[in-house]
Amino acid sequence: MTDPIQPLRNGNWFRSAVFYEIPVRSFFDSNGDGIGDLPGVTAKLDYLADLGVGAVWLLPYYPSPWRDEGYDVADHYAIHPQLGTIGDLDRLVEEAHRRGIRVLGDYVMNHVSTDHPWFQEARRDRSSPFRSWFLWSDTGTEFSRARVIFRDSEGSNWSWDPVAGQYFFHRFTATQADLNYDTPAVRAEMLNVARFWLGHGLDGYRCDAVPYLVKREGTRCQSLPEVHRYFRELRALLDREFPGTVLVAEANQSIPETVPYFGDGREFQMVMHFPLMPNLFLALGEEDPRRVRHVLRATLPAPGATSWAYFLRNHDEVTGEQLSDDEREMLLWFYGRHPRAVLNGGLRRRLAPMLDGDDRRIEMMTALLLGLPGAPFLYYGDEIGMGDRPDLPDRDGVRTPMQWSDGPTAGFSTAPDDRLVRPLVTEPRFGPAARSVEGETGRPGSLLERCRTLLRVRNARAEAFSSPLFEALETPGAPVLAFVRPGASEHVLCLYNFASTVADVQVRVPAWSAPNPTDLLDRGIALHVVDGALGCRLDPFGFAWVGFPPVPTDPGAATRDPG
Ligand code: BGC
Repeated sequence: MTDPIQPLRNGNWFRSAVFYEIPVRSFFDSNGDGIGDLPGVTAKLDYLADLGVGAVWLLPYYPSPWRDEGYDVADHYAIHPQLGTIGDLDRLVEEAHRRGIRVLGDYVMNHVSTDHPWFQEARRDRSSPFRSWFLWSDTGTEFSRARVIFRDSEGSNWSWDPVAGQYFFHRFTATQADLNYDTPAVRAEMLNVARFWLGHGLDGYRCDAVPYLVKREGTRCQSLPEVHRYFRELRALLDREFPGTVLVAEANQSIPETVPYFGDGREFQMVMHFPLMPNLFLALGEEDPRRVRHVLRATLPAPGATSWAYFLRNHDEVTGEQLSDDEREMLLWFYGRHPRAVLNGGLRRRLAPMLDGDDRRIEMMTALLLGLPGAPFLYYGDEIGMGDRPDLPDRDGVRTPMQWSDGPTAGFSTAPDDRLVRPLVTEPRFGPAARSVEGETGRPGSLLERCRTLLRVRNARAEAFSSPLFEALETPGAPVLAFVRPGASEHVLCLYNFASTVADVQVRVPAWSAPNPTDLLDRGIALHVVDGALGCRLDPFGFAWVGFPPVPTDPGAATRDPG
């Protein structure tokens, strides 16, 4: 039998795919226990293929006490029984590949659940070989420069363990003990974990919390050289044993601290761009895209065959960590009006409620995400504009059951409402009666159909959209972000009006004239070209993707350097 995986593994597939993030427990429940599961994801692959998704990222599916949505792993070599079996994962991967969809897992390597047998052994016995797998202290005062990330729930990175009779180190919650990467057995074991799931056909991993693996006194305990060394080793292993698989880094750091994770092509193929995301929302609130242009210009091109990964929302809060204090205050002022919106200095809100259910802005932001020079990551449910529940604890409010229909449990499960993994969205504007896959499918003008169109047009122009080439253009006097994505057979000019008023924009497209521009999205936009300058009128929060034939002697005017 031909292996359906192999044909998908060649080339730089990750540069053209649209990614879709799935918290498995919240997506679709196939067995009526009220909890989403792996067969539930398999059952919805046709929906994803239809939407134009090229790869899914599954949130952790391992056995876990679920004190941090599965990021507290209690066994790295198994699947949580509520989510299915390894056979179910194999089937999911096979069915996904059959549809041309790749599957990424979540590699949680910085810490384990305190329920994990490794930690249980370590705490009970000072002479256990597992003792050195964790970081212990008699005082809990070391590594004081390591900032506390979950500052609303944790006062310190050290917690007292009465069984161990010592403090243990945790960069996240006190139920997630950090592993000690100075212990060779830890490094070897975690490489084996990576191997294990790739052996089940995964196409790669989104790697959780990568900067924090190694701690050194006197430093901020992040992004140290040993961290990079470990990921180079991991990447070499993948290239050797599972060629074509990819690693995506979750490194919520500044641009200069993030770039080294590409490791000149020897670490991660993709790195999440954390600084851009809150700036997109700020710029939209200000109705002025200049800060976005600025961040994009400051973004070094991803080296070689690598790619930035962009996102609007994910399963965490909108983090303001990469903003200045003033900017963060402004972000909260624009979007943090709900009394329970703010968490750890960020916002636990979904895209649609943040943008007040305004489909024009949701669609424009989605089109922007899809146009950026890097891989776009969509968050489940944002394509239908579903809402959230800020009243729920922690970040649970952005992880409510996917709204498949306006029927009971939003079509998520056959279990009664009170047995669902989380309560449904109740706010009428964002709940299942207003926003659901069934309700929006085939309905002209629905957000889902508009998103489908965006993905279809983008996928059809994968050559331009997957190229790392990018050039930001000036738009004097207009609140419009403009940039070019050059392709060998067609260039695409992307234009986004950040203002709530009509914008007349003129952009000078350098080095090539454009005799026959095409409105790729067919949005009825009148385009005028005079002396190499393109003019058009954009509606409030309107946008356009304009296709141009490159002039035959195009000298490659758009450089790799976005500056
Ligand atoms: C994940 C969070 C998680 C944390 C600890 C992150 O960065 O995205 O959801 O709580 O890592 O694993």
